[in-house]
Amino acid sequence: MGKKGFREDFLWGGATAADQLEGGYNLGGKGLCVPDMVKYVSREISNGTNTETVSYDECMQMLKADPKTLNCPKRRGVDFYHHYKEDIKLFAEMGFKVFRMSINWARIYPNGDDEEPNEEGLKFYDDVFDELKKYNIEPLVTLLHYETPLNLAIKYNGWSDRRLVKMFTKYAKTCFERYKDKVKYWMTFNEINMMLNLQYTAGGIFMEKSKDSELQTIFQALHHQFVASALAIEEGCKINPDFKFGSMLGISYYYPKSNDPLDVLTAQKANRINWFFYDVMCKGEYPKTALRYMEKNNVCLKMEDGDLDILKNNTVDFNSFSYYKTQCTGVPKEDDKVMAKFFEEKPVDDFHPIQLVNNHLETTEWHVQLDPVGLRVCINEVWDRYGLPVFISENGIGAKDILEGDDKIHDPYRIDFFRSHIKQMKEAVNDGVEVMGYTSWGCIDIVSAGTSEMQKRYGFIYVDADDYGNGTYNRYKKDSFYWYKKIIASNGEELD
Ligand code: BG6
Repeated sequence: MGKKGFREDFLWGGATAADQLEGGYNLGGKGLCVPDMVKYVSREISNGTNTETVSYDECMQMLKADPKTLNCPKRRGVDFYHHYKEDIKLFAEMGFKVFRMSINWARIYPNGDDEEPNEEGLKFYDDVFDELKKYNIEPLVTLLHYETPLNLAIKYNGWSDRRLVKMFTKYAKTCFERYKDKVKYWMTFNEINMMLNLQYTAGGIFMEKSKDSELQTIFQALHHQFVASALAIEEGCKINPDFKFGSMLGISYYYPKSNDPLDVLTAQKANRINWFFYDVMCKGEYPKTALRYMEKNNVCLKMEDGDLDILKNNTVDFNSFSYYKTQCTGVPKEDDKVMAKFFEEKPVDDFHPIQLVNNHLETTEWHVQLDPVGLRVCINEVWDRYGLPVFISENGIGAKDILEGDDKIHDPYRIDFFRSHIKQMKEAVNDGVEVMGYTSWGCIDIVSAGTSEMQKRYGFIYVDADDYGNGTYNRYKKDSFYWYKKIIASNGEELD
């Protein structure tokens, strides 16, 4: 029996994304990006479900409107653009070894297809990386966390157009050359599997503008992202052979709703959707299940000569995923208890399984079923299938927090959440999995990706801002801040 618990160099930290964190949407030469166009929708209307898709017409109208009349929270983020020194100091106080962040493509190439990069944008990230270095915090950088430049959505219909592959590779190369001595860990695309559900967010695609069928558009855009990711890895390895590249998926694991073999098979098919993405990024090949699905649905991928070799030759070094929840699935029946929908309704099929309530689990008001054991199940399964080191790049709970009169925030629910999940991650480590690190989601409160709310908070650090941008934007330490500090200091030993 080997040593138990987390490895000495375990990367503890937190995760964010530029579009939800930075603000300064029109500062430093930055262009508009896709999430800058998402308006806040009040909870009475959204009921906590996803509100992040924008239509082409809506987008055009917004471009004509006075920006002061629009409440687009991701334009504000939590103003990390001006607070990064203070925020990084707080991360350091918690003992972070790693900070996951993304570079906003539109800060580097404001229109996505510009000839030259924007020096002011490049300099901003230089400053952020230097600040992290001051505290020995390793950056883990996502190149595209939903921030496709808006111009690319309007002019090319986003990732449905092959030309984005070249533009993205150029952007990636610019970042690698500039930051080759400051960043070692990279992820190309955040939750690359989200293209199946959120084409505007993940792909900058206005589906109503596509001449092809919805599925054809989705799979073609995905192919473009797979090739772009592989080409970026190829460029990166030439620039610095020590770079480490990770895949990043949003894993939402499925349990069978009963022991009826048909339900088990349905759940297996649903989980294979995740494995499809890993198969392409880890093994460099399209799995039969995906090819079969495409054929059945008349999807005909347009590939260029050499695409398959590019995928095969440029696979990832580690697998990462975000983990928030699990659900049940099976052969649909009338009395099924269906989960509230996150995404637009799609007909149920192998790639869009029915999502059913699991009676064993507690549900949050944002329709998330909490399942710490599911984290262990996922970590073990990803390891068993691919044998690559695993990184938990997102995990957290969205909840309402109250800033008390004495400037304290008591968030025992968050501590419970992290305790139970980290315990399960530790079990997976003891099961034999090589887990590299863990970055809790939204280590500081940021704007929600799905609902653009501020009231759905994930952080250890409270930011005094509301859904309308009111507030001081002052930072306050929550109880969980002190708790996580203890966890990091003890390398995950002091969990109880
Ligand atoms: C992940 C995304 O899917 O979930 C993040 O990568 C996002 O960007 C997180 O913020 C939580 O979702 P939400 O909608 O609660 O912000």
